[in-house]
Amino acid sequence: MSSLAEITAKANAAAKKQGSVSYMLKGMFLPEGEHVPGPYVNKDEFPSALDAANEKIKILKESTNPSARSASESFLMLRDGGTDTQGEPGKTVMTGWLTHAAETLGSAAFIEGMKKLGDRIAHDFSALVVIGIGGSYTDIEGTITACTRGKPEIPVFYLGQHLSAEQYAAFFETAKALPGKLAVNIISKSGTTTEPAIAARIVIEGLTGMDKCGAIFATTDPQKGALHDMIGPRGFNPPEYITDAVKEKFSIGENIGGRFSSITPVGLFPFAVAGVDIEELLLGYHYGITGCEDIVAQNTACRFLAFQEGAVVGVYSYNVACFRGKILGFRQLWPESTGKDGKGLNIMEEFYTSDAHSNGQLIKSGVRNIMEIFHFIGDIGQDFEIPKSAFDKDNLNMVAGNMSLHAINNRFMSALFLDHIQSGVPAMAVRLPSLSAFHIGMHTAIEHYSAAVFGLLTGINPVNQPGVQGYKNIAFNLLGMKGAEGQKQAAAALGAFGF
Ligand code: PA5
Repeated sequence: MSSLAEITAKANAAAKKQGSVSYMLKGMFLPEGEHVPGPYVNKDEFPSALDAANEKIKILKESTNPSARSASESFLMLRDGGTDTQGEPGKTVMTGWLTHAAETLGSAAFIEGMKKLGDRIAHDFSALVVIGIGGSYTDIEGTITACTRGKPEIPVFYLGQHLSAEQYAAFFETAKALPGKLAVNIISKSGTTTEPAIAARIVIEGLTGMDKCGAIFATTDPQKGALHDMIGPRGFNPPEYITDAVKEKFSIGENIGGRFSSITPVGLFPFAVAGVDIEELLLGYHYGITGCEDIVAQNTACRFLAFQEGAVVGVYSYNVACFRGKILGFRQLWPESTGKDGKGLNIMEEFYTSDAHSNGQLIKSGVRNIMEIFHFIGDIGQDFEIPKSAFDKDNLNMVAGNMSLHAINNRFMSALFLDHIQSGVPAMAVRLPSLSAFHIGMHTAIEHYSAAVFGLLTGINPVNQPGVQGYKNIAFNLLGMKGAEGQKQAAAALGAFGF
């Protein structure tokens, strides 16, 4: 058992050795002496926005203190349930992710147990099927693909995040050709989400029919929900795999919402199977929370001021393909956290240089309602030299032999950065030294923290998501799952639109 001070010291030492994620913010500010129209940050307004962001950080930190939140009306803006803008008195304060990495790191037995479990699954099965949606999916694929450069220890399939039949067909085709059985991990905090429930039925039945269904793991609420209730009766989480040290924590903390949950077994189990170093990831996350408050406050203050100037879209740009899943994770995090009460920062993904040849046109010259967040990655662990050629009509011999493909890639994205800043798009550059688990964890924490602070700055509750219930209720009615009368009414409402 390590103490918080020991864990923090270890995280600080790792950051010193491996380097930190940094955010360069100069491009967010009104360019001196230039008159390009765009939602830039006015530097005179920055100090008070920074104070406000620091104030919100203080509130978030206080919310993790059990005695400070003991009154059921305290921290309403960080509680579960309620309306779009507030939580309900007495409901859980959903900021457990701020302390969870350290708490998990505190149990060496759990970390070791989880690593061993991951190794065993990778050894015993030919693939892992991860079933989940939203926060029970996005950052899992994002982190695995980034940290393993798309090459996990065993293949990982993702289902349950949509209802697209042809993807199931493709999955079963591939599964048939695999040599052994597949392990399955069903992830749902509520345990009642329909898309993963459908996927679980199809996958378990289909794999069983092929005699390929191996151990099944369920990551869900520790006490309640349909998935929780099925664990014993259906033989999920088999004891021959889940040791006591792991079992105790193999669930999703009540005080952590889906999109903040990849540092719980939601992510840790598939990460361990895929070969992601979970200890490093958690250390990085802990450092992102405890050692990067200035980065959180400053970048969020900038985003907030640009947003107030009309930048309602945050373009998340990147140029390393295996980083796409992380970007999609942030595309979930920000809108789901901040999109309430007529406010919110929408996120659009932009893969350069590919997209410079398509919607890059709009970023350069379209509606000036954009801020851009560029992601530069230092060492990606793989690279190529540009070969010299006797046919140099394209002039590339200039760079052949003295600049790698990745270096050229980053130069091109720097060019886009400059061009867009000069064209009415305030832009910041996020620099990750590498795609190591430590840096990925740190970056994720900074984004989680920033999204929460941004939400608070705009006056909404960033940790709940009541708005996503609407379509579910209508769909259940349309499917007749809530009775004939409801079905009739929903069909009539849809019929008014010509369906
Ligand atoms: O962030 C969230 O809370 C959501 O995106 C959920 O993760 C998503 O709706 C899936 O919910 P559940 O894990 O309950 O199936």
